[in-house]
Amino acid sequence: MPAVAAPASAPETRPGLVVALDGPGSSGKSSVGAAAALELGYRFCDTGLLYRAATWLSLHRGVGDTGVEALVALVDDVELAADAEGRLARVLVDGRDVTKEVRGPDVDAAVSAVSRVPELRAALLDRQRRIAAPGRIIMAGRDIGTVVLPDADLKLFLSASVAERARRRAEERRVNPDRAEGRDILAELRRRDELDSSRAVAPLRPADDARVLVTDGNRFEETVELVVDAIRSAEAARSAGTPSAGTTPTARALAGDVRPRPEPIEGHLTPLIRLVAAAARLITRAVTRVTIEGDLRAIPRRGPVILAANHASNADPVVIGAWLTPQLGRRIHWLGKKELFDWPIIGWMGRSGGVHPVDRSTADLEAFRLAQRILEEGHLLMVFPEGTRSSDGALQPAKDGLAMLALRTRAPIVPLAVVDSDLRWPRGQLLPRPGGRITLRIGEPFLLADDGAPARRGRAAKGAATVRLMGRIAALLPPRQRGTYAAHAGEDAARPGSGTRPRGGRRDLEAVR
Ligand code: DC
Repeated sequence: MPAVAAPASAPETRPGLVVALDGPGSSGKSSVGAAAALELGYRFCDTGLLYRAATWLSLHRGVGDTGVEALVALVDDVELAADAEGRLARVLVDGRDVTKEVRGPDVDAAVSAVSRVPELRAALLDRQRRIAAPGRIIMAGRDIGTVVLPDADLKLFLSASVAERARRRAEERRVNPDRAEGRDILAELRRRDELDSSRAVAPLRPADDARVLVTDGNRFEETVELVVDAIRSAEAARSAGTPSAGTTPTARALAGDVRPRPEPIEGHLTPLIRLVAAAARLITRAVTRVTIEGDLRAIPRRGPVILAANHASNADPVVIGAWLTPQLGRRIHWLGKKELFDWPIIGWMGRSGGVHPVDRSTADLEAFRLAQRILEEGHLLMVFPEGTRSSDGALQPAKDGLAMLALRTRAPIVPLAVVDSDLRWPRGQLLPRPGGRITLRIGEPFLLADDGAPARRGRAAKGAATVRLMGRIAALLPPRQRGTYAAHAGEDAARPGSGTRPRGGRRDLEAVR
């Protein structure tokens, strides 16, 4: 029996790339890979089908206990078949189409154990390489970039939080993700992630030279577009004679992103920043008293972190910067409007102190990319999610940008509340009012991309995530300042499984300290 059934349509003759597309279960590699292949005129092969078909056959024929040899022998009876577009997305056993059966829950439960068997993997290795040999193919799996095709022209790794993947799978199966069946899917995915990544042979992990695409909150079409763009850029780089995906940063940049990478962002604390913070504390103390409440030690000292605070006064950045900088011993990065840098002394201080200029006319996209880069390079970013100061001291509707950023980068968020700063230095007043007290409250770090993520997609998911994070800030504020989020104060932290700490509990948090 032939290993691969002939595609129904004539294969594309233009030269193309060999693309490895790996990722965990339900990360979208099969559907995204198939759609991208269709758009590019590439062949597509979902290698998970081979492992699934072997598992289904072993269950079906009851060879589970008869040894490895019987299991390996099943491989010869499995055939991948092309659909109308030539994509190897169907599986035949003895000529019968069993694509639907191999995606059933019984196979889901058994496939990770079966795919741990080294002899089975070895038997399928050659099969996969033969399929890829003619080129112009996207091959999806777990170990394509690391083991099956280590010399692939381009390696992509699709990643998404387990909650997002469970929701997608529940949607596929028309199951309510919040009901028992939905929770079972989540537990099952977790179990398979653990098995797939901990196995001794070809464990699930991105290749060192893979480009990782995080897809939380993305619409399906957005992820397809990311993949298509990455492949087109790599094709262009290759025809321009520049290296395709490789191990050097330049080659990687050329393969996925034609723009060369900018200079790394500076992360250490300079004497100048310490001096400015000390001066700001001195001046602030001359005007008002400042109290810090909460667990400062819980703020990670290393790795990406987002500090998110309410914004009611010009005093907010002063108090946060002046008090937290020396305590954390790391630079706080801020995004500030470009015009700020035209001011003689303030401009110089801002630039040297971790404020990044953002052009308001080209606005959001530029700011978003910059913020993402700050976090991806492992720094601490301070954000006021409301965008601008509130006129009455109470929380106003926040933008969804921060939720999107947190979902995409998986950075932990530390909610902060600056209490009563509006009474000391109200919006519209040139100078602060002496006296009184400002309190800076520090909340508990949490991950938005955690298991409590709402079972919704796209804009709705980002909107719901924004409400969750603003609810955490509101919970730290007195009722008078909770404004728009009064009804959501503390709602998220109180929910079971909402992830009051970064996923994996304390240990994960410590890993980024
Ligand atoms: O992508 P999927 O869920 O259809 O994959 C099913 C199983 O097959 C998965 O648990 C791991 C295994 N697999 C593998 O080990 N290596 C591959 N290249 C593809 C899938």
